[in-house]
Amino acid sequence: MAIHYEQKNRIFTLQTAHTAYQMKVDAYGFLLHLHYGGWAEGNMDYLLANYERGFCSNPADARKDRSYSLDVLPQEYPAFGMGDYRSSALVLRNADESECCDLRYASHSIYKGKYALKGLPAVYAQEDEAETLEIMLEDAANGVHVRLLYGVLEDDDVITRSAVICNQGNGKVVVEKAASACLDFLHGDYEMVSFYGRHAMERNFQRTEIRHGNYSIGSRRTASSHQYNPGVVVAQKGASEDAGSCYGLLFVYSGNFLCEAEKDQLNQTRILMGLQSDLFHYPLGPGEELYIPETVLSYSATGFAKLSNQFHHCIRRHICRGRYTHQPRPVLVNSWEASYFSFDGEAIYRLAGQAAALGLDLVVMDDGWFGKRENDHSSLGDWQANEEKLGCTLGELASRINKLGLKFGIWIEPEMVSEDSRLYREHPDWALQIPGRSPVYCRDQLVLDFSRPDVRDSIFEQVCAVLDQGNIEYVKWDMNRSLSDLYSQAPGSFPGKLSYDYVAGVYDFLERLLERYPYLFIEGCSGGGGRFDAGMLYYTPQIWCSDNTDAADRIRIQYGTSFFYPASTVGSHVSAVPNHQTGRSISLHTRGIVAMAGTFGYELDFGTLGDAQKEEIRRQVAQYKKFADLIQHGYYYRLSNPFEDGYGAWMFVSKNKKHVLVNVVLLEVHGNMTVTYVRLKGLSPHAVYADAATGTCYYGSALMEAGIPMPVEKEEYAAYQIELRKC
Ligand code: GLA
Repeated sequence: MAIHYEQKNRIFTLQTAHTAYQMKVDAYGFLLHLHYGGWAEGNMDYLLANYERGFCSNPADARKDRSYSLDVLPQEYPAFGMGDYRSSALVLRNADESECCDLRYASHSIYKGKYALKGLPAVYAQEDEAETLEIMLEDAANGVHVRLLYGVLEDDDVITRSAVICNQGNGKVVVEKAASACLDFLHGDYEMVSFYGRHAMERNFQRTEIRHGNYSIGSRRTASSHQYNPGVVVAQKGASEDAGSCYGLLFVYSGNFLCEAEKDQLNQTRILMGLQSDLFHYPLGPGEELYIPETVLSYSATGFAKLSNQFHHCIRRHICRGRYTHQPRPVLVNSWEASYFSFDGEAIYRLAGQAAALGLDLVVMDDGWFGKRENDHSSLGDWQANEEKLGCTLGELASRINKLGLKFGIWIEPEMVSEDSRLYREHPDWALQIPGRSPVYCRDQLVLDFSRPDVRDSIFEQVCAVLDQGNIEYVKWDMNRSLSDLYSQAPGSFPGKLSYDYVAGVYDFLERLLERYPYLFIEGCSGGGGRFDAGMLYYTPQIWCSDNTDAADRIRIQYGTSFFYPASTVGSHVSAVPNHQTGRSISLHTRGIVAMAGTFGYELDFGTLGDAQKEEIRRQVAQYKKFADLIQHGYYYRLSNPFEDGYGAWMFVSKNKKHVLVNVVLLEVHGNMTVTYVRLKGLSPHAVYADAATGTCYYGSALMEAGIPMPVEKEEYAAYQIELRKC
């Protein structure tokens, strides 16, 4: 039993293989948090140390007990208005415009299996892999019920949290803020590791001490964003890859989010993960409910490496779905950096022919195949193949490519519309715009109102008509701007709910698409990694990691990405040199090794390469396929911090620790260069490992404790890939 309820003291304990989570319903019915961290047993309500604190308010039923204040007590779901002045998990505006919610325990249930969230992505599990705890909290005054959901995946050391807010009262309430997880720590000094960035430079590593005051990251773009990823690590001060306590919070959502950290007056720390409160005012009429997207929690007592692997496993096995969940991903070539908008059907066919000869599996025709799209100023919304440009129908192109032994895929951007399109001319009201104002543009495009079922239905029909034309097995689903002009022309719509309903609409569309085409493989994209999140991974088990394909930058981008997301989700390609984003020229060998830290592919015109390079690519593809299972399903270890160290290094270890792939790229070269030693991780210390290329044998312990020296070479970005096999 992963979930235990102790009736006498009203204590809930959730246990996983190595962690424990405990909470208590106190004498007044408030749900207090007691512990989350390493495995522990027994009642821990002795931790609650109540003292009278000045200016700490008391709820009415505790007015005679001045030592009782929600302002300092650790809580599971702190709602604003009851005397807790720290950041709240829930802020409700009542029918009389007051902002207050008094949530008390009403009931609970425990059942086998993992709860699901209506219309939202969430961790899924078999009946015997998970248990669920639902705790019902109620506000007697406004009739609001909050159902707190806890999913426990015992073997995986994962606990998920979500909340459903339901208006059972007679008046309207407005949800002004709602989180799915709150973690209150009674003591300790913590740091927050978060991942910030920009287009073409996503998920840079940042570590900040959590100090007094409120520190937050989030998004107001109705996409999880390039700028801040909705995954954070809360680490004990000084925790490292291999030591120290750390907690991961991963929001399974692709829209606006808010993650807050606050150290309070008593040096207690509160972490909240949930929906962004800015731009959010969600009205709930009597009987209506709102699902708050899920947060996945995991804890490691021994540093980041273990935490990352717990999240990797959870994402691979319990978030990603579909045909390729357990199969190696196809090695693809994408036409974007090969030809941008300038191609015809023959060019795509030629690319496919070359790809087939080099051993690839899939050719993707990127932007430019539909409407009159010759640049990014037109045709979004007109999802009909430009047969004049292609010289044939989509179906014919797909079948010619299939005959080469290759799969065929296309790019789409269903959420968008160009003003220069038939769709916009016919339905200008389908684009998000505020009446009486000029819209805000980005990439010269507007956003379709995906909160509206009629808009979604129309695009759905168009997309299905495209997919029905032939054997299209892959779709790259792009989203190339942030939302603005949050105003829907649909009757009864309300701006404060638009962002949430838009994302729900995107999810609804994707779910319908997968229901209709269960074998379709969708790769997510938003100008690269602008919507790289666990919500999208539920529908698109692979996401184009960044529009930056420069190998040196990619090492850093993929380093940040690896903290939560497994290599099987990371779209990563070898592109041409000089690189189109940075102008840097890095050897094909190094570019190959860097792209092999994800789902491998190419983004260049093979026709421009000489025979020797083609031969090298043939070898790279074969090499990747040999390691695909290890890379996509093995343990992953970061062996350096490329933001600080002069090299990037990472490794994959098979589940049985017998097969190992070490990757190293030297980022600096100097005169009279010092030797770089790379210490390995995750091996069996007493086992002997042989270098598959040289036959040299090493003890696992030696490789982990003393490391392995890299050659000193007079070459920028020299890279090494070392395969080890347990003897
Ligand atoms: C975005 C994507 C690119 C490419 C272009 C096409 O920027 O990230 O990979 O598909 O759109 O317009």
